[in-house]
Amino acid sequence: MSATTAATWDRQRILTALGRHWNSTAALMLAATSRQVESHARGSEVFAEDGSAYLDFAGSYGVFLVGHQNDAVRAAVLDALERAPAALPGTVHPAAADLFAQLTEVLPAQLDRFTLGCSGAEVSEAALRAVFLARPGRRKVVIVDGGYHGKTLGALTVLGQEEHRRDFLPRDPDLVTVAPGDAAAVRRALAGGDVAAVFVEPVLGGAYLRVPPREFLPEVARACQESGTLLVADEIQTGFGRTGALFAIEHSGVVPDIILLSKALTGGFLPVAVAAMTGDVLEAARRSPDWHPGVLEGTVPSGAAMAAAAATIREVRSRDLPARAERVGKALREGLREAVRRHPRHLVDAPGIGLMTGLRTRNPSVENLISMQMAARGIHLGHSLNEQMDQPVLRFYPPLTVEAADIQRVLTALEESLEWLDRRPAWLMERITWLLRRQYRLPPALVLKLMHSNLKVNW
Ligand SMILES: Cc1ncc(COP(=O)(O)O)c(C=O)c1O
Repeated sequence: MSATTAATWDRQRILTALGRHWNSTAALMLAATSRQVESHARGSEVFAEDGSAYLDFAGSYGVFLVGHQNDAVRAAVLDALERAPAALPGTVHPAAADLFAQLTEVLPAQLDRFTLGCSGAEVSEAALRAVFLARPGRRKVVIVDGGYHGKTLGALTVLGQEEHRRDFLPRDPDLVTVAPGDAAAVRRALAGGDVAAVFVEPVLGGAYLRVPPREFLPEVARACQESGTLLVADEIQTGFGRTGALFAIEHSGVVPDIILLSKALTGGFLPVAVAAMTGDVLEAARRSPDWHPGVLEGTVPSGAAMAAAAATIREVRSRDLPARAERVGKALREGLREAVRRHPRHLVDAPGIGLMTGLRTRNPSVENLISMQMAARGIHLGHSLNEQMDQPVLRFYPPLTVEAADIQRVLTALEESLEWLDRRPAWLMERITWLLRRQYRLPPALVLKLMHSNLKVNW
């Protein structure tokens, strides 16, 4: 085994390793679109090894909320790493207390019991376990069509310790799916009094980006209260200011029973996630005969990650980033809406709120081609990662620290990209969509060859 470090990995070796050990099609695409090796990042920009700079309007789907390499957060992480990067459970770490104090400063007062995890999916699962313990006998969960809460399949399923599995398995939750924004459907689903919880994103993220009608969440909260159903608000994408309020629930004044947080929480330095719940939920869960300490948690979250999270919350508050998202986001949202008016052949609408914005495209090929054209102009956007959708939403999620001039640069590049697209015939869009939907089933080299011959652009 050779003792290499990241510095010894040149572009070709990286692409070969990614292709061999990770995803051959994606690696080939990265090669073909001349994607550079990331060298460093700062603020709103990511720099390649050759010195070229890319404006980051993808932001890892909301992770880089306070900008790349935020000074205050980096200082907190380095300090924790040097002193005691220890982990819960079984330790008394000051960073945990500091994080909990910061969370109670920003969350509604009732949401003051915290469970930690390393990823959004992990705390979604913790919430699900809390819900089933707190509402014994109820097997149904209401979810929103197009919602996203993570992709774990259930480590509990293969756990060999009966006492940990008993109350949860066999568990194929009896799901009731409602359309986004359809509060009446939620109310109907809850009428039987047998639903344990409603899982909802206050603004539907994922590939969709839908801002629900203002009355949706209050109406869902009322229906939950009347039927003893728990309301779980997933703010993993919306939390900490992206929508122009500290939390998206604030737009409608609703306080859920559980709120899920992650992504932006550590400024992109380290993964951590939190499920914050009310004392009532926790007490109800504790009354279950299947309760035992640790039932909601894993073993990993680190002191350094918690220090990063506390510092990020301080940064968001001291710079009033939610207000900035609203103020700066207005120009971006208006610019995107103007693009829709000018290019209805390619664009459907420009949904969004605050700096959680996007362009709903006519088809997957429009999304991909805009994305490539923008990358060629030094701007990264957030791909929906879903070629099967008819009208995917290309995301614009800059850091909330972004400058107004950067937004203007993005809007100018977008207009140029759309004009480039105007010169492409309709049949080409159909053919590229066909190809994109099969890109992981066809041999990667063939996909590239067909893309190249169809597009006739020199990658
Ligand atoms: C709203 C929402 N919930 C949950 C998740 C899952 O988070 P993770 O990828 O950290 O498991 C995501 C990730 O994109 C998300 O956007």
